[in-house]
Amino acid sequence: MMRLWGRAIVRRRKVLCLWLLLLGFALVTLALSDLLNRDRVHSHQNPVPPRRPLQGIPNDLEVIVDSRDPALELGVDLAPLKSLQEDQLLFVPSMQGTKNPQQRKGTYKVLLPGANKDTRTPAPPTHGEMGKAVQLEEREVESSLVQKYGFNEVVSEKISLHRRLPEARHPECFGEQYSESLPSTSVVICFHDEAWSTLLRTVHSVLDTAPKQYLQEVLLVDDMSQHGHLKSVLSEYVSHLDGVRLIRSTKRLGVGGCRTLGAARAAGEVLVFMDSHCECQKGWLEPLLERVAQDRTRVVSPIMDVIDWQTFQYNATQWPVRGVFDWRLDFYWESKPELQEKDPDSAVRPVQSPVLGGGVVAIDRHFFQSVGAYDPGMLLWGEEQIELSIRVWSCGGSLEVVPCSRVAHLDHHHLPYSFPDDELIQRNKIRVADTWMDAYRKIFYRRDTLAHFIRQSESPNITERLRLKRSLGCRNFHWYLTTVYPQLYIPQDRPALSGELYNVGTGSCADYPRGQGPKGGAMNIAPCSGTGSQHCELNSELEVRWGPMGALCLDAKDERAVLSPCSTHRPTSSRLQWTFIKLSGQLVHQQSQLCLEVLKEGGLPQSSPKEVKTGGLFLRPCTHHPRQQWHFEQLVAPKGA
Ligand SMILES: *[C@@H]1O[C@H](CO)[C@@H](O)[C@H](O)[C@H]1NC(C)=O
Ligand SMILES: *[C@@H]1O[C@H](CO)[C@@H](O)[C@H](O)[C@H]1NC(C)=O
Repeated sequence: MMRLWGRAIVRRRKVLCLWLLLLGFALVTLALSDLLNRDRVHSHQNPVPPRRPLQGIPNDLEVIVDSRDPALELGVDLAPLKSLQEDQLLFVPSMQGTKNPQQRKGTYKVLLPGANKDTRTPAPPTHGEMGKAVQLEEREVESSLVQKYGFNEVVSEKISLHRRLPEARHPECFGEQYSESLPSTSVVICFHDEAWSTLLRTVHSVLDTAPKQYLQEVLLVDDMSQHGHLKSVLSEYVSHLDGVRLIRSTKRLGVGGCRTLGAARAAGEVLVFMDSHCECQKGWLEPLLERVAQDRTRVVSPIMDVIDWQTFQYNATQWPVRGVFDWRLDFYWESKPELQEKDPDSAVRPVQSPVLGGGVVAIDRHFFQSVGAYDPGMLLWGEEQIELSIRVWSCGGSLEVVPCSRVAHLDHHHLPYSFPDDELIQRNKIRVADTWMDAYRKIFYRRDTLAHFIRQSESPNITERLRLKRSLGCRNFHWYLTTVYPQLYIPQDRPALSGELYNVGTGSCADYPRGQGPKGGAMNIAPCSGTGSQHCELNSELEVRWGPMGALCLDAKDERAVLSPCSTHRPTSSRLQWTFIKLSGQLVHQQSQLCLEVLKEGGLPQSSPKEVKTGGLFLRPCTHHPRQQWHFEQLVAPKGA
């Protein structure tokens, strides 16, 4: 070969350069392929061998071009993602060298070849990392990341992707026996611009805790993320994980649409929809599967524990807990010892729940499809879980929280992305109200006047959902309220006795300052909001019911007007009873026969107790002073059924 080369040099000196160039190229290619091969051999010795070579198009990556009705599209102005092309740039750290500290995380050194240790060797949780705020140095980076994600990503990055949660299950759970032939499961995790550490910790947490024989697959569904690392390096990372598939949508689908897409691609008998920032407690899956296997129309949730957004500390949620909503259609987890029955099994017995949160839900795949999946008309985020919950109950299923299953959910400080439209939540609420609440929807519209005004100018297209409701033979909302959620107080909203409580003397409205919580507290006076947030009603029991739950009652503590939890006894105590004298506008406290009056700061009489020196609502001997004159002002008049 060298002789041939020599002759070539003699005969055509001019092409020498070209030949040398080619030779050099060949040598480099050889060296490179050797390197890659060595890397491959090397990785075969690892506990989780990659299932395919590092180069080439990942087989498990599906790019979904959604063909939904364009009318349903959001006004989100995002450039379409050319997923496949971008994913072939596997080892190009998209933001290397950037000076912007906020984006520095995009380089993610753990992903560079040879350094991606986290994909392969599960690191044991370092001791002391739980329940301890990590030493924080880079305050600026931190606060910009809090801004970006709604939680402290700097702290999250320092915590192992394989951390183990402290045991929080009731000791009786360890004695529970589960069937040996539980159904196979697809865990569907939708994400949109989730932070790298929290997303991967969710995935690893499922892989580390779900028994292999039941875990069919983990489906990661990318709802059109825009962050660089999710576009480029994620598919490479996922290709090293057994049983994890990545699906990308090229249109923004929102939570419901994204989960429905994942469900359509899932092969497991049971679907577990999981938010992209969760951590599973050991043994969380079996108790859920057991309940679904026993009754395929049962939809179940674990106890949702809380991960603190600042410290990533784990907080166990108190049992019993169930999901509820109020008349503004806002969701809450309600921890109520009264829910617990007195029997000895109550620590391990599932509790039926009027609604479930969206964090983690397990549902039989066929039942999910037959009951109508998620409502495709829901926009982006919010309310989809309340809609599914009411539908499941009304159309033949049931919901429950299973106490021996626990999954922790990262509570966000704020939503990591702003809605393209502030009224988006209202539009989703309108869909729920109009589809499911029959005439009871008027109660909602009075407490959310923005929704009322939107509804007056546009109607949701719920034709398909009403058809579904008919064809499934679903029951009405009255049945749901009386059978499933009898604890929800049903307001009477009588004309002239409900609305904002307007004070003539001050031109302001009675107000319950936010943040005092569901236990009650002092009433005050504030500018009339007009939003429905100050709505109250005087009912036929003579209670002044306050708040979107209607569970707080106007009460008197010393001379101060306060809110207290309403009594469940009938007739109610005279301490909680009021008469409204329409002619004078006086609101008279039954027990004391004193009148409700607005007192300004400093305008208190000498005799008043020391702790009530600030202004607010007080009980005073009745006069005809305008500060004792009140009207119930109805803000809106929603149309009937
Ligand atoms: C977790 O618990 C601690 C102490 O009990 C409390 O201060 C903190 O607010 C809790 N965090 C969350 C997110 O509930
Ligand atoms: C509502 O949606 C259905 C199908 O989903 C469609 O046939 C109908 O034309 C729509 N109605 C309006 C008023 O857009």
